[in-house]
Amino acid sequence: MQASSGDIEAGETRYNKTCVNCHGPAGKGVASYPKISGQEIAYTTSKLETYRDGIKIGPNSSLMIMMAKPLTDEEIANLAAYLKQATYE
Ligand code: HEC
Repeated sequence: MQASSGDIEAGETRYNKTCVNCHGPAGKGVASYPKISGQEIAYTTSKLETYRDGIKIGPNSSLMIMMAKPLTDEEIANLAAYLKQATYE
């Protein structure tokens, strides 16, 4: 896998389009939707690629597979970069 460094601002913009609806502000997690901020870039990248490939990794993966399908490699890199440093006060 190419270690491209993501664009944090672009990642934030993309995050706030759809991801925020389930994962909450800055990826802090809401109810049954997991917290996704503060993880290593490699961790988030590999999760999103796995979902994009249509592979289930948890009980509610079908939701994430739907969300990850349209993501480009660049969007995944940007999202991972944003989420690594995202914090919510
Ligand atoms: C419809 C609600 C919903 C939306 C929208 C959504 N997610 Fe998720 N997300 C989930 C659920 C539910 C899980 C747990 C899935 C499972 O059981 O495998 C999850 C899991 C994840 C995980 C893995 C967490 C872990 O540590 O295992 C990541 C990363 C993630 N989402 C990122 C995103 C990103 C980035 C977006 C926007 C492109 C997004 N999600 C949009 C519901 C959503």
